[in-house]
Amino acid sequence: MDSVIESGGSGAAGEPRPSGGIDLARLLRERAGEGHDLQARMLNPQLPRMLHAIGFDRTYVRAQGAYFYDEQGNDYLDFLSGFGVFAAGRNHPAIRAALHQVLDAGLADLVQFDSPLLAGLLAERLLARAPHLDRVYFGNSGTEAVEAALKFARYATGRTRVLYCDHSFHGLTTGSLSVNGAAEFRRGFDPLLPDTALPLGDLDALERELSRGDVAALLIEPIQGKGVNIPPPGFLKAAQERLRAHGALLICDEVQTGVGRTGKFFAYEHEGVEPDIVTVAKALSGGFVPVGATLAKGWIFEKVYSSMDRVLVHDSTFGSNALAMAAGLAALQVVEDERLVQNAERIGGLLQARLAERLERYELLTDVRGRGLMIGFEFGKPSSLKLRAGWNTLQAARHGLFAQMVVVPLFQRHRILTQVAGDHMDVIKLLPPLNITETEVDRFVEAFDDVMRDAHRGTGLMWDFGRTLVKQAMQRR
Ligand SMILES: Cc1ncc(COP(=O)(O)O)c(C=O)c1O
Repeated sequence: MDSVIESGGSGAAGEPRPSGGIDLARLLRERAGEGHDLQARMLNPQLPRMLHAIGFDRTYVRAQGAYFYDEQGNDYLDFLSGFGVFAAGRNHPAIRAALHQVLDAGLADLVQFDSPLLAGLLAERLLARAPHLDRVYFGNSGTEAVEAALKFARYATGRTRVLYCDHSFHGLTTGSLSVNGAAEFRRGFDPLLPDTALPLGDLDALERELSRGDVAALLIEPIQGKGVNIPPPGFLKAAQERLRAHGALLICDEVQTGVGRTGKFFAYEHEGVEPDIVTVAKALSGGFVPVGATLAKGWIFEKVYSSMDRVLVHDSTFGSNALAMAAGLAALQVVEDERLVQNAERIGGLLQARLAERLERYELLTDVRGRGLMIGFEFGKPSSLKLRAGWNTLQAARHGLFAQMVVVPLFQRHRILTQVAGDHMDVIKLLPPLNITETEVDRFVEAFDDVMRDAHRGTGLMWDFGRTLVKQAMQRR
């Protein structure tokens, strides 16, 4: 008798009723509110410190759609969506139902020496969105999708060097870190792979590197997550031509931009290119189960997996697991049924236009950019003397403090979650779920106006908080 099965018991569906295991509801109830303390003692100790410093150390108990809720029942508008995973909103009922179904199906998952049907079905569905690509490798995260892309490109071309762009972000495992365009992530982890950074959009630099004959690929985000930087118009197309001429590959990292975020299913579609390899993750499983996918042209797979001996030459134990695959299938169905790509384009255009109207009104706001529902807005040096002293003090301490000064009251006063788009930059990034409506746009714009009006007074609580941030930044030096 299996130790967790109660003798002779039977559940509602005629299944044996488990007698052991945990009572999750009770555990959550009894230990409610201990998350920050446990984190401080047993996980990353800096996380609760940081959350406390900016007043984000609250306790959330549930979530639905574009909102999550704290213990007191306050709603928080989620303009971050778990770094972009909740494209369909949190706890989407159709994706939850698919997960219940796959568990109830009691499948023979991860047999390993098997061809799981759900993986084939998800690959079929993904490739229908990228008809110029032929095959898919499934892993468990964005960085794993990138690692696979790097290995595939090197093996398929027989070359070693990968080009990437300044400010790029492709994940934090060692291969992905080797193509990370920000020093603060790389520092202390050397030596990394000998890859080469290019200024974003610099065709001459690309040509120079290609002419050395050892370049396997250019790896690029169609819109950079850090800073929401878009390559200049025509760059990707011209880059693809040059890469082809030199026998090198174009890899588009769609981990953040993919699955409709920018108003096209893949952001490279805006540029009219056909990358050789595409990485997808985040929104692919609706935010429920870690997943990553590396899509590529058939010849690349044929080289990497060239014989039976090489069948497991690149693989991962949990890749293609049934929960991730079922969540992926359900998430893509929701994207289609709810026309999320079209909504991202329409409502994203509206949000961006409403923010752009404010460029005239607020001298501290210098740029609004993005596509669909991946939107960045940047702050810069004000022209009036009244604001300039405060601005200069913040900049002298650390770039990015002003943006933090905006993120904090958006959260504390208006209960809207956003993030600074990267270290040392005064850019805020918005990544709401793709099914938000004008109600959420209105709430955001009204809150933004309130915070901006405050910031433009040049005195008051917000600037007091700015001074606290300056002090903290100085202490860190
Ligand atoms: C473009 C891009 N690539 C890769 C990654 C890494 O994904 P993960 O955090 O799932 O490893 C990210 C994460 O933010 C990303 O934005």
